[in-house]
Order: sequence, then C-alpha cells, then structure tokens
Amino acid sequence: MTVTTELSFTHRFVPATDPAAPPLLLLHGTGGNEDDLLPLARIIAPGSAVLSPRGKVLEGGMPRFFRRLAEGVFDEDDVRRRADELADFVGAAREAYGLAAPIAVGFSNGANIAAAVLQRRPDALAGAVLLRAMVPLREPPDASLSGKPILIVSGAMDPIVPADNAARLATFLRAVGGQVRHEVLPTGHGLTQADVDLARGWIERLNEAG
Ligand code: MLT
Repeated sequence: MTVTTELSFTHRFVPATDPAAPPLLLLHGTGGNEDDLLPLARIIAPGSAVLSPRGKVLEGGMPRFFRRLAEGVFDEDDVRRRADELADFVGAAREAYGLAAPIAVGFSNGANIAAAVLQRRPDALAGAVLLRAMVPLREPPDASLSGKPILIVSGAMDPIVPADNAARLATFLRAVGGQVRHEVLPTGHGLTQADVDLARGWIERLNEAG
C-alpha cells in the first residue's frame, strides 16, 4: 500500500491482486480520512485496486469533500468546484496507476460528492455505491449516465438524510439514464452489516455481468 501526496489529493493506493476486479474509489464521511473505508473495500471487493483520497475541506478540523453552510445545507458552488477537482484527480490517478474507471464507494459526505461527480463528470466513474447519500445539487446537471450502475443504500431512521431527499436523488439519477437500485434499510445514518452485504452482492453481480 502506498500513501502519497504527489497527485492533487493526499491518498492511499492499494494495487489490485485480481486484475479482473474493478478498481474502487473510496470516499469517506465527514471527519474521516483515507484509511476509513479500506477495511470495507477488502470485504466488498477483495482483489480490487483501491484509490482512497482524503477530503480537502476542513470543518472544525474534520476533513470533508465540500463545504456546507449547515448540516444538510450545502455550498453548491463549492460542491461543483470540488466535484470537478475530484474527477480531475481520478483522471490523473488512473493515468499514474494504470487504472480503469473506478466504482465510487462513498459514505455520507463521500456519497454526496460521488453523486455530484456522477452528475457533472459521469465519465470519471464506472458506477457508484452511495451509502446514506442525499441530493448534492438542487438543480442537477443533465449529463447522461447512460446505464451506469448505481446502488443507493439509505436508512429509514436516518436523522441526517430525510427519506424523501434520498428518494429524490434516486429519481434524478434515473432521469438521466442511471441504472439505479435504491435500498432502504431499517436503520439510521451509521453503516450496518446489511450495508456491507448489499454492497458486496451488488459488486459481485456487476463483476459477473461484466
Ligand atoms: C454532508 O454534509 O455531506 C451531509 O450532511 C452528511 C454529513 O457529512 O454529515
């Protein structure tokens, strides 16, 4: 495993042990870092190369991927700028490490930036697992997702992501051609074993289909 600051984000890169497995782009939640989701990646996609950047925005010292004005209220100019910056990083990392387009696996703030990248720069990603995601841009761009596979997993009792907001995200992504599966678990904002099982099964089926 390498950790490097040479590309535009401090990140970890773990090379693939199975060249047929799709690379993952891991995007942590608020207050997390590039190490947070590595254990999850090993479970849901053993053998995949892993690219895991640290969000550059600091909120009270906690890394995030874009600025917010309050909980659930986003600085949408910053969302757009940071989504483009992250897509550029993915492009540079693909070249540096020789990777195919990755599947984003994002949690909370990381899922929200992944959704924004899908909406602004869909070519940067091969698909996405969005865990506890919400709508990142109230007026979504209409970049085509043309069949891109997307798994959204929400919590029915999530105090941070209202159920109708997550449903709206699924609608937005479907409207531009995303092949969206939206699961709602009887849980809150934190991840559960059911999230892990859903994500692992979904990635396995994607591999079989591809
Ligand atoms: C966000 O700010 O992206 C969401 O409110 C989730 C969070 O990070 O708490």
